[in-house]
Formats: sequence, C-alpha cells, structure tokens
Amino acid sequence: MALPKVDAAYLKEIEKARRDLRALIAKENCAPIMLRLAWHDAGTYDAKTKTGGPNGSIRFKNELNHTANKGLKIAVDFCETVKARHPKITYADLYQLAGVVAVEVTGGPSIDFAPGRKDSNVVPEEGRLPDANQGASHLRDIFYRMGLTDKDIVALSGGHTLGRAHKDRSNFEGPWTKDPLKFDNSYFVELLKKGSGSDQQLLKLPTDKALLADPRFSQYVKAYAEDEEKFFEDYAASHKKLSELGFRSPLTDLKDSASSWTSRIVVATIVAAVAILSYKRLVSPEGVAFPILL
Ligand code: HEM
Repeated sequence: MALPKVDAAYLKEIEKARRDLRALIAKENCAPIMLRLAWHDAGTYDAKTKTGGPNGSIRFKNELNHTANKGLKIAVDFCETVKARHPKITYADLYQLAGVVAVEVTGGPSIDFAPGRKDSNVVPEEGRLPDANQGASHLRDIFYRMGLTDKDIVALSGGHTLGRAHKDRSNFEGPWTKDPLKFDNSYFVELLKKGSGSDQQLLKLPTDKALLADPRFSQYVKAYAEDEEKFFEDYAASHKKLSELGFRSPLTDLKDSASSWTSRIVVATIVAAVAILSYKRLVSPEGVAFPILL
C-alpha cells in the first residue's frame, strides 16, 4: 500500500481529525478502548522480521477476531466515523492519533505525534500480544521482540490507569484504579498497596503483579508511584516509541536535516566570528598586522 504524502494538506487533515477525535472521545467516554486499539495495532511488531506494528491491519476481521482483540471492534467503528470525514489519513495514523488523543484528553501527558504511517493489509499471526495470565519472562519475550525495554514495559503498563477489564472479553473484570477515566499514576499507587490498604475491588492481572515481583521492574513501579511527573515523562517517551515501531516519519527526517543545517550554519557563524575577532586583535588601528607572538 502507498505511503501517504505528508504535505501541508495532510498535516491540516491530521489537525482536523485530532479535533474530531477529542470531541468523539469526550462524547462517548471511550478513551480507554481507543488507547487499547492503538496499543494492539502497534504491539504486534516484530523487530527481527520487521512485520506487524502500527500499520492499521487491526481493521481487518481476521485480526480483530484474535482472542486478544475481543471488544476492539467498538473502537475500530468509532474510528471509522472519523476516517469517513478525513479519508486522506491512513488507518495506521488514525489509530495512533486516537491513542495519543485518548491519553491527552483524560489528563495524561502530551505525546509527540509524527504522521506518515503506511497502511498494511497483511494480518500478523495470532499470539504476538501479551497473555495476562503469565509473568515477567513472558512480558520480556513479547516487548523485547518489539525492541522495547524494561522501562518501556513498566511505563506502558501504566496505560491501565485507564479503563477496565470485561468478563466477556478477557475473562477478567473491573478497573485498575478508582477513576478509570483519569490518566494519572494511580495504577502504580494501587499496585504497591498491600493487605488492608489495598482495594479488593480493583483489578490486578497476573502480569500487573509480575511488575511488582520482579526487582528490575519494581524499581520503576516505585519511582512512578512516588513521582507522577517522572511517570508522565517516561510514559510519553515510551508511548511515542510504541507508536513508531518500524516507522520513521518523513517529518522526523526533515527536522533532522533542518537541524543538521542549522548546526552547520551555527558552527560556520562561530568560526567566522572567531576569525574576525582574532584578525581585529592582530591588526593595529592603522591596519598593520602585529606578529602573533607580541
Ligand atoms: C503489559 C502487558 C499487557 C497485558 C497483559 C494487558 C492485558 C489487558 C487486559 C486483559 C485487558 C482487559 C480487556 C477487556 O476485558 O476489556 C486490558 C485492558 C486495557 N489495556 Fe492492557 N495489557 C497490557 C498492556 C497494555 C498497554 C501497553 C496499554 C497501553 C499503553 C494497555 C492499555 C489498556 C487499556 C486502556 C485497557 C482498558 C480497555 C477498556 O476499558 O476497554 N494495556 N489489558
């Protein structure tokens, strides 16, 4: 499938779609499922074979029917209403934009969004997304396959600050936090609570508990529970990585080449200024050059 042409018209369409998504998410209260859609489209990435990833393939029935994706047709259908108004935008960009907007409108950090993803019609094989019944080594197998790190695993798991599990979709039930429509660090705060302090109504998946049991993971759980700003900063960086697996935006290339030109100009200006200053120091008011050693 063709690459979208990321020009001024495309960027304008992205901004309009961003506004439509904000309104849609506010009206339908659907931030959690939109975030989950973005994550499940991206989370199939395999860095070795460079297959899967944020490429819009989750719109196809075959992929939506994977067990891990139960319920996500609701989010695909919501996005379809935005796609109808902005047909130029690829599904791959639209789903990732929906994830970014879902985090922002619920009070989470701003996440840099770079457009230009290509749609794919290749559905990855089932089983690339994590199984909530497993532990730390499984999480590492899945996320390392994408090229992500321990820190990314914990920061991104903080996405469970939003939403809830539904018995008929995953066989789990209930929210992780007291306010599942607010993006904050309460997922980590609740995870750390033990005994009588812990709210038995709140959900802890086996994979959530694994974050606490594994020392390399739990250092981040503690840090994020103590410091929401740190969580927001790391979450925004990890979310951007997730949303750009196997993808490099043409805008990033442009920015990089602009900044390398900017730095070349800055260096050239500094060299010229130093040369002029040294020349002035070496030349008498009459314009006669003094020997350098004087
Ligand atoms: C670490 C491995 C992960 C596992 C095993 C996992 C598993 C699950 C499960 C079982 C559900 C319940 C689905 C349902 O019954 O409706 C769920 C929901 C959710 N997950 Fe994850 N997840 C993981 C990582 C993530 C990540 C990385 C994000 C986003 C950055 C995320 C965002 C969400 C959201 C927002 C919901 C709530 C959806 C809703 O309310 O409809 N999850 N997850």
